[in-house]
Amino acid sequence: MTTALKPELYRDLVRQLATLIAGEPDPIANAANTAALIYHGLPNLNWAGFYFRDGAELVLGPFQGKPACVRIPVGKGVCGTAARGTTMLVPEVHDFPGHIACDTDSRSELVVPLIEEGSVLGVLDLDSPLPARFDEIDRDGCEQLVALLLVHHRKYPRGKL
Ligand code: SME
Repeated sequence: MTTALKPELYRDLVRQLATLIAGEPDPIANAANTAALIYHGLPNLNWAGFYFRDGAELVLGPFQGKPACVRIPVGKGVCGTAARGTTMLVPEVHDFPGHIACDTDSRSELVVPLIEEGSVLGVLDLDSPLPARFDEIDRDGCEQLVALLLVHHRKYPRGKL
């Protein structure tokens, strides 16, 4: 898709996500709908979903796409590296040392950490079969979607992500 249309697409996804999660405290339900919204709303993805942190590991959460690796050590692969606290935008996963190939079709990846009060709760992971599928607009858009989800869950102390 042309770069000019992308910011509008993300504005639309943010609006749709706000509607989907409005009034719903359950974090798994909201993460599941977020994964589905992204997977079906963005072109050229083969996987979109969450990993949640459990101590020194990430554990698979709601997602869309082929079955994936269940546990990833923090610090390993693209997801584990993002779980140290920075968004990872990888244009060619084959060039990323330690990349974990859950789906051999994946060529590029965008992983946004879920950070609450300085600690990483998990990551949002997007994979594409196209090299260099993700750019700064995708990074910014996905960070906005994650921020919306985190702000929403601050309202529900017992439904924390
Ligand atoms: N490729 C990821 C693993 C997760 S899957 O892509 C769903 C990584 O290197 O962390």
